[in-house]
Amino acid sequence: MDIIRSISEMQQRVVAARAAGQTISFVPTMGFLHQGHLSLLDEGRKRGDLLVLSIFVNPAQFGQGEDFDDYPRDLQQDSQMAQDRGVDIIFAPEAAQMYPTGYATYVDVEGISENLCGTSRPGHFRGVCTVVSKLFNIVQPHTAIFGNKDFQQLAVIRRMTRDMNMPVEIIGLAIFREPDGLAMSSRNVYLTPQLREQALVLSQSLVVAREMVASSETESATIISRLREMIRRQPDARIDYIQICHQLTLEDQAHVDADSVLLLAVYIGNTRLIDNGFLEPGHD
Ligand code: PAJ
Repeated sequence: MDIIRSISEMQQRVVAARAAGQTISFVPTMGFLHQGHLSLLDEGRKRGDLLVLSIFVNPAQFGQGEDFDDYPRDLQQDSQMAQDRGVDIIFAPEAAQMYPTGYATYVDVEGISENLCGTSRPGHFRGVCTVVSKLFNIVQPHTAIFGNKDFQQLAVIRRMTRDMNMPVEIIGLAIFREPDGLAMSSRNVYLTPQLREQALVLSQSLVVAREMVASSETESATIISRLREMIRRQPDARIDYIQICHQLTLEDQAHVDADSVLLLAVYIGNTRLIDNGFLEPGHD
């Protein structure tokens, strides 16, 4: 396994691989790998001759006062995990190479990126789309693999890829959870044991919402207010949003149907966690 830091070296490697007839699969991450990331790598390993993992904590997607400086980083541990999973190349560029002085070009996806995290983290998806576009141009993958954990991110990237005619197949994989239900996240390391316990309220909200739907409750407002009550009982929880949206448009829905996804963002202490899931059975 190679660790490549230079953009031009990365491009040379993939141009040579493509010329040799190899297919390239790609898993973009911000590192501090956990089993959720590893499940994406396993899928990538199956789908490409050359598996590229990028590790880049992208300053452009963090707002002022967010956790860019504190975001956990451990390239040595990540390299070990990546190697064990059969990664061929880790691409870990420096921020100064990705965004040199005078950098001026950004990718903005309208509509679908404006609700949910787009409202509470202005500029976040512009940063995500910009870096993913750049990474696609550098790595030139045939296939790129993302997690449903960041449901809106995946929807925004699918739209960007389609709108910009990017020749990359986008694959979305199910959320990988801890045995007790907590969605795996690099940010879970911020949680003390007490906060970790309270964080279970996100996945429990999904369970409760699904139970309500199974017993014929279809009013989004009724479901959401029940979840608000439940989350407010946790002393250190602060709701950012709880919404029920159509899986494709991410517009709010007044009534639950087969396309409805519950999406939540909740601060547990100072840590902002997200989770989501379909409300009707029959989805991953
Ligand atoms: P990061 O948070 O490191 O996540 C990288 C990929 O792993 C994303 O596609 C995310 O949805 C997926 N992922 C995270 N937790 C997961 C889980 N529990 N189960 C399954 N997949 C999971 O998302 C980003 O980085 C960045 O925004 C990025 C796309 C790399 C652009 O900077």
